[in-house]
Amino acid sequence: MTDQLPDNNRTYYHAYEERYIAVYRTGAQFWNPHEPSSALAEFLDAHNYSNKNVLELGCGEGFESFYLASRGLNVTAVDISPTVIEKCRALALERGVDINLQVGDMTQLDALASQSFELVVNVGSYHMLHQSEHRERCLQEVNRLLVPGGRLFFQNGLDLKEAAVYFPEDSERIKAFKELRRTYRPGQPAPRRVVINGREETISLPISPKTWFARLDEYTAEIEAAGFKVEQALRTNRDRINIGWEAVVVAGK
Ligand SMILES: C[S@@+](CC[C@H](N)C(=O)[O-])C[C@H]1O[C@@H](n2cnc3c(N)ncnc32)[C@H](O)[C@@H]1O
Repeated sequence: MTDQLPDNNRTYYHAYEERYIAVYRTGAQFWNPHEPSSALAEFLDAHNYSNKNVLELGCGEGFESFYLASRGLNVTAVDISPTVIEKCRALALERGVDINLQVGDMTQLDALASQSFELVVNVGSYHMLHQSEHRERCLQEVNRLLVPGGRLFFQNGLDLKEAAVYFPEDSERIKAFKELRRTYRPGQPAPRRVVINGREETISLPISPKTWFARLDEYTAEIEAAGFKVEQALRTNRDRINIGWEAVVVAGK
């Protein structure tokens, strides 16, 4: 699978590189430090993946990958941003965690074609793929790299209307977030909260985010259409990894 996808909007994914550089340049140590996903922890409690190969797609600074390694998995992690992979490598070294880190595009994973995985984890990066053919391609790649019987663990941003229905207690925060998104325009600087020398500050980033926050049934439909069998599908507001309201899907090959 070496042919390239059309390049329209593709710069958006690569723009993450620019955003990470801008954040670290302010002196902020992290883009998004967080506790590992509690949904992922529960998933691992329910299955034995010790010593198995896992691939994390769009690992960012690597907090899920570090956690997966701490649970005894052999971790390979890819992200499209060389800067964040470098950051992740430094954090892994600091923590003494041994993971295989690679710069890579989750819609074109030829570089991993000789390997196979029992588990693929995607936390907060599938929703970056705002073009449907890129999401389709990503799921084909997951399918290609998973062993028969392997699983996909998926946790991505939930459609805000759906979040408002399922998490009425968050309605004020959802309203504020919707308003922020409504005012974004391509090319306009986007605000981001970061911690610099222990102080929280809002900085302006060069690129507006473009994401595909879908309803749970839209995510499961795409995953099923790619040939997976959905085993579990839920909505959560427990993990503040991305926007705070997420769809969690576990699917088997
Ligand atoms: C919202 S961040 C989430 C990072 C991390 N999983 C977390 O939860 O903190 C999305 C990540 O996806 C990466 N990304 C975007 N498009 C990608 C692609 N096509 N292939 C690989 N990584 C991609 C970005 O560089 C970014 O690090």
